[in-house]
Amino acid sequence: MKIAVFASGTGSNFAAILESIQSKKIMNVEVVLLVSDRPKALVIQKARDERIPVFTFKANDFPNKQVYEEEILNELTQREVDFIVLAGYMRLLGPVLLQAYDGKIINVHPSLLPAFTGKDAIGQALDCGVKVTGVTVHYVDEGMDTGPIIDQRAVTIDPDETRETLIKKIQEQEHRLLPEVIQNLASRLTF
Ligand code: GRF
Repeated sequence: MKIAVFASGTGSNFAAILESIQSKKIMNVEVVLLVSDRPKALVIQKARDERIPVFTFKANDFPNKQVYEEEILNELTQREVDFIVLAGYMRLLGPVLLQAYDGKIINVHPSLLPAFTGKDAIGQALDCGVKVTGVTVHYVDEGMDTGPIIDQRAVTIDPDETRETLIKKIQEQEHRLLPEVIQNLASRLTF
């Protein structure tokens, strides 16, 4: 299965996917493209270090989402991408990509959905005072963190928890769960 990872940030989940492929925890999966809407994002250097092709764009350079998604789709088609993984991609997908990859796009989100959608889910959980939060991997639809849930992991919020310690605990779970889900999907889906 050939996958493209979409990311806007530091790329720790991207790195976790690559590490799982290298250590053969994920089999029969190849990352053939990184797509990023932030040409200066740290994730891009990670891809270059691993010689993974990168496609970057700035949304503001295009008249609308349809036009830049058509460019992305062109890249995905040329590289025969089967499946898309959103790993900290900070944009909603539009109809061009959703229709072309119907049922073949997943996202990782740092909360137990449907709680705390959108930005800063970790801060939202701390502000609310919940005692348990977690990580969700779900299929992507046109909404914000709303598609069908594939799998989740709970993370306990301790009384002395800080933002930094909680981020670390959430990331540890993300870096395990996302590769696990990718492996499960790769072994079930045929392309
Ligand atoms: C992760 O917490 C992910 O759940 C969220 O954005 C963050 C990306 O982190 N959607 P990284 O760039 O993979 O380190």
